[in-house]
Amino acid sequence: MKNFILLLCFAPLLLGSCKKNNLTDNLLLPQPQIIESHKGHFQIPNELPVQIDAPSDAFGRLTVLLTTAGIPCRQTITTEGLSLRLTDNPSLPTSKEGYRLAISPDKVELSARGEAGLFYGLQTFVALYEQYGRQIPAGTITDWPRFEWRGMHLDVSRNFFDKEFIKKQLRMMASLRLNRLHWHLVDGAGWRLEIDCYPLLTQQAAWRHGKTWHEWWTSGRRYGHQNEVGVSGGFYTKEEIREVLACADSLHITVVPEIEFPSHSEEVLAAYPALSCTEKGGGDFCIGNEQTFKFMENVLTEVMELFPSEYIHIGGDEASKSAWAVCPKCRARMDSERLANVDELQSYGIRRMERFLRAHGRKMIGWDEILEGGLAEGAIVMSWRGEEGGRKAAASGHPVIMTPGSHCYFDSYQDNPMREPMAMSGYLPLSKVYEYDPAPADMSGHERVLGVQANLWTEYIPTPEHAEYMLYPRHFALAEVAWLDPAKKDFTDFRRRAVARADKARAAGYHVFDLHTESGERPEKSKQISHLATGCPVTYTTLWHAKYPAEEAATLTNGLRGGWSYGTRWQGFLDNDIEVTIDLGKNQQIRSIEADFIQWFAAWVWLPREVIISISDDGKEFHELAVIKNDYPEEEERPEYRTFGWQGKTTGRYIRYRAISNGRAGGWLFTDEIVVR
Ligand code: ACM
Ligand code: ZN
Repeated sequence: MKNFILLLCFAPLLLGSCKKNNLTDNLLLPQPQIIESHKGHFQIPNELPVQIDAPSDAFGRLTVLLTTAGIPCRQTITTEGLSLRLTDNPSLPTSKEGYRLAISPDKVELSARGEAGLFYGLQTFVALYEQYGRQIPAGTITDWPRFEWRGMHLDVSRNFFDKEFIKKQLRMMASLRLNRLHWHLVDGAGWRLEIDCYPLLTQQAAWRHGKTWHEWWTSGRRYGHQNEVGVSGGFYTKEEIREVLACADSLHITVVPEIEFPSHSEEVLAAYPALSCTEKGGGDFCIGNEQTFKFMENVLTEVMELFPSEYIHIGGDEASKSAWAVCPKCRARMDSERLANVDELQSYGIRRMERFLRAHGRKMIGWDEILEGGLAEGAIVMSWRGEEGGRKAAASGHPVIMTPGSHCYFDSYQDNPMREPMAMSGYLPLSKVYEYDPAPADMSGHERVLGVQANLWTEYIPTPEHAEYMLYPRHFALAEVAWLDPAKKDFTDFRRRAVARADKARAAGYHVFDLHTESGERPEKSKQISHLATGCPVTYTTLWHAKYPAEEAATLTNGLRGGWSYGTRWQGFLDNDIEVTIDLGKNQQIRSIEADFIQWFAAWVWLPREVIISISDDGKEFHELAVIKNDYPEEEERPEYRTFGWQGKTTGRYIRYRAISNGRAGGWLFTDEIVVR
């Protein structure tokens, strides 16, 4: 029965084949650490004899990989065919996930220190069969992972994905040698896990008005009841969780649950408002209330009964902390525990979680905010607001997992944002994921980097197909970052393999972004331009914001244009107009004056309401050349890049360019160059 379940688990990975005859042009992804190519090939017979030197129940668990790929096999005690050996032979890679696959014309020997290593080695053998057919080129592959933590994160709160979808992603993960599913099971948009102690979590907090996160978010963020007409949501029963965990276990994946505390918990506080500072719901958990800790400990006890993972994620991100400052219970806690501020109050709460988990033999992970107010003793930090938190924690002796927004947030656009489905923000193409190094040798404490993970937040991802589209092929790149020695990485070769891997995945029913149609970075970014104002001094009447200075006063005339992401080369102005004056040095004939702007609603970045362009001979008396009104709707959430400019015939030395903000509080204007011709 167990083998039958395993068979079902692997069946969707059946793939086509394409003939090649040398291991050097293999399509393996991630690429193995060491490949030696030899002469000749091993011919897979109609029924492959398999000899196993490992616990007897491993035979079925491992050979299911062969049978589902279409390689019938039988167990033998002779040394012909394929031998699978668990051994501590010192010549093997030290990692239990490592293996050596020696393919010679008369036999194939796969050895590893752990069953995971045999599993990955067999995957390699099967992938070679899928590429080369029954004639596998001879050679030796010696392989091991760079990191022990090779993670995929999935947010099932903002959008609920059923257990079949999760199992499908587990299968893909295993084929990419990813081994940690960080399951973001709870958040303000819905609680997704059956907890016996607190039935309202699944009767109420799992249901909301509004089918998508977006509808819910923009229509009052109301929760509902399971039996109410028109509510949407869902949760996993404990039985379903166990089914997912059994599948993960068979694929050598650890599922790490995340239970958010003390923030991102509005759904809990709607169902159990007494746990909020106001006792009316909203805000964060009240840290002054002992009932909060009772709740968390009861929930975590049930979570630990279900999930065998030694790691439990406790969230810890983005607490507002504002209610704590005025809450009598929180203030009393701060007094009694001698806590200087709300950061220390958060740290007090997180430390209690860490102690509780440690007392039960588990390790606590938290987002990098858990550094604020002091890091709990045994905590593992997951660095998301860039790498700074991770670097700080690693330098102070804590294990860390790197998942910075810049390279690991797969809710961002992977191609031209004006053509892609709505995403959160930012531009993260395949190449940028691939270039990431989570633990460069010069990083203090780099040996404490457990690994790397990509996160999929699903605010803008309402369907399973869309989720897969955002996950793949970028997770192919993440998988190779997590597995392969960085000195061996080669993007051109990786992309060749990723295209083939994406085609395979598509044939297996995954909805994958099409690399054949990738248009890449904003074309303007690729070349430096020269125009009448290049290098001319710019006087700012309104100043850029310190967070987005670009090249400061040189930005708007340096000939450099920004990419799709406003994070580089674009200069940002917050809650302000832009007013600048360019001195061309002498009177010039001018035919056009133009600048580009971005609208990116999700990031509160707007096109200007209007642009006013003026000209002067002396820098004192200006006359207006044009007022350009914006006709792109302010409420439009799709990103847009627009040029606001004047064209005609004039002369002058000084150009004044004014971009008027639409006045939304907290709104940004971004521009990259004022091009004068
Ligand atoms: C996060 O993205 N709030 C961890
Ligand atoms: Zn409170």
